[in-house]
Amino acid sequence: MKSFKNIGVIGAGSMGIGIAQVASSADCNIFLIDQNKSVSEQAIKKLEKVLVRLIEKGKLNIFEKNSILKNITIVDSLESMKDSDLIIEAIVEDSTIKKELFSHMESIVSNGCVLATNTSSISITSLASSLKNPTRFIGIHFFNPAPIMPLVEIIPALQTNNHLVKEVHQLLINWNKKPVVAKDTPGFIVNRIARPFYSEALRIYEEQIADFATIDFAMKHIGGFKMGPFELMDFIGNDVNYAVTESVFNAFYYDPRYKPSFTQKQYADAGWHGRKSKKGYYDYTDGIELDSPSKDENLLVEIFERILVMLINEAMDALYLGIASEEDIELAMIRGVNYPKGLISWGKEKSFAWVVSKIDALYEIYHEDRYRCSPLLRIKASL
Ligand code: NAI
Repeated sequence: MKSFKNIGVIGAGSMGIGIAQVASSADCNIFLIDQNKSVSEQAIKKLEKVLVRLIEKGKLNIFEKNSILKNITIVDSLESMKDSDLIIEAIVEDSTIKKELFSHMESIVSNGCVLATNTSSISITSLASSLKNPTRFIGIHFFNPAPIMPLVEIIPALQTNNHLVKEVHQLLINWNKKPVVAKDTPGFIVNRIARPFYSEALRIYEEQIADFATIDFAMKHIGGFKMGPFELMDFIGNDVNYAVTESVFNAFYYDPRYKPSFTQKQYADAGWHGRKSKKGYYDYTDGIELDSPSKDENLLVEIFERILVMLINEAMDALYLGIASEEDIELAMIRGVNYPKGLISWGKEKSFAWVVSKIDALYEIYHEDRYRCSPLLRIKASL
């Protein structure tokens, strides 16, 4: 197995510094760079404050804190990363800029250095094509905040050497993460399968079936989700969440199953991004106080079941299309977005025949391709 000791992290924004902390905690040497050096310096200062808080909470000792900080070196030039075993890029989400960077990095690092991207929406295969040796390229997709979220999606490009997947898998286990392997397709695992959690909730609201608070309450009270869809969109940021939905929709050649919502676009356009702008689906000016939901049990169950069956359908379709193994699909949704259960086991528990009947009933009403049942779900239901 290849050893990864020297790690270059490019981009010191929220993801870059988080990844640096993860690798540094596992005793790697980190070389951190940002196009703006003061961003790296500020990021290290913030990290120091985070580590001090962890000491106060008894989760870290002073030696560990000092070692995490000592392991990270801010560098001024990409050339200073020439001895890296692995480079992880976490810069702006722009395909042209990323390709230029990787092509340049390839001329600096050794032949054995692995080049990786943390992109959440750009095709790994297309980024790999910027390299003379694309077999050394791979997607390593952390979730935000990287030091806290256990899940990491490993996404080989079409060109990636098979050994690399195993090596990166082992590395991430050494870094205390839960790695899963995903096919290079839009949204990978989590950002693909989670789409109906937001889009079906928005649709239910647009159809005036229920308000935000009631939909959120249904998913928490009946479904056991930690946050409702609108709370979560406000937390992620409507601008960010809308951009992901739009990018997945475009990348799927406008498949209606991933169609974005006008409501969310308008909220994003209005600057009602959620918590960070103090206004989203809820008002956060005076702290967080959610509106009171309807307590109509039948309505709550109807909302929950409609969103749940759409999520199960998405998970089963991902399995059908070989996006990931059943085990990884389940793990991804539990450890990446904190779902209370794996969606495929949830489908088994409710019975696949029941899920199919619910989706077919929605199709009967709308006659939209959005409500098409995955062939795998139909096959399993008939067994
Ligand atoms: P960010 O905007 O917080 O940080 C990006 C940093 O990269 C900035 O500090 C910027 O100065 C720097 N940068 C831009 N171009 C550069 C270049 N050519 N060379 C060196 N530094 C450069 O962005 P964030 O949120 O950290 O995202 C970074 C990447 O991670 C993006 O590809 C994003 O899609 C992906 N990602 C983001 C997640 C999130 O929740 N924020 C989650 C998972 C992946």
